[in-house]
Amino acid sequence: MNGPHDTFVLRNGYEIPCLGFGTWKMPEGQEAIDAINVALDAGYRHFDTAAAYGNEESVGKALKQSGIDRRELFVTSKLWASDRGYESALAAFDASLKKLGLEYLDLYLIHWPAAKGPDEEWQKENADTWRALEKLYSEGYVRAIGVSNFKAHHLEPLMKASEIDPMVNQIEMHPGFPQQETRKFCDLSGILVEAWSPLGQGRVLDDDRLVQIAVSYDCTVAQLCIRWCLQNGAVPLPKSITPERIRENADVFRFDISADDMRKISELEQFGMSGLDPDEVDF
Ligand code: A2P
Repeated sequence: MNGPHDTFVLRNGYEIPCLGFGTWKMPEGQEAIDAINVALDAGYRHFDTAAAYGNEESVGKALKQSGIDRRELFVTSKLWASDRGYESALAAFDASLKKLGLEYLDLYLIHWPAAKGPDEEWQKENADTWRALEKLYSEGYVRAIGVSNFKAHHLEPLMKASEIDPMVNQIEMHPGFPQQETRKFCDLSGILVEAWSPLGQGRVLDDDRLVQIAVSYDCTVAQLCIRWCLQNGAVPLPKSITPERIRENADVFRFDISADDMRKISELEQFGMSGLDPDEVDF
């Protein structure tokens, strides 16, 4: 990998730029537009938003204003929990596409699994929602479909009930929360993992052990975290509104973490996670 344009290949052959720009907590408006402009200048071509982030219009506006060929961009959005179900998912996708001002999405994800109550009920809810994504994919409105925050026990019944398996699972992943179990399941199932909050929302950046390793590569802890995701075959989606940090987070292609350090980082005890457990959240 030589830069953010380099790609991983999804199971259906569609290419996904290996580094994405996260937009969570970026409110609609000029701040988001400015951040995206800096990101485009820094070489990012992959932008990750969601209906729930409330910034799809600004993301779409910034990308359109850039004049960059649509085919060079990779845009992801996500279906919010209140829009689960076949018909509502189709309507939610339509609304996202309109807000983004696009004719197609590169990737559309179910943001969080239904996971509460009797198994048959939440499993059916996820399967009904997924049928809508399969339809959107089959009709060409989206180039790849997937899920977010699904654990193996959410993915298994979905894959049993579906015709097309998810191509992506976007999960919280960073040093101190390596998600070994979910990642192993995804690897075995040909599902590419994307890492949200690859910096643990900044919580892991002061960890002494990570600082020491980062110093040895002459990089920052943020860069170490992002590189660790990439070398684990996952697409990191760091978020920042700060120009220097946006550039810093894309400058992760000039060093390789050794196998020994990769293991040391992966073996750190769990810390810095958001605490959002897909089986416990109330949405
Ligand atoms: P800001 O947006 O104010 O620059 P994550 O992607 O893990 O959720 O982390 C996002 C948080 O980490 C944001 O608060 C962001 O702040 C901060 N952040 C992003 N990049 C860096 C960096 N390179 N160094 C320090 N903090 C960063």
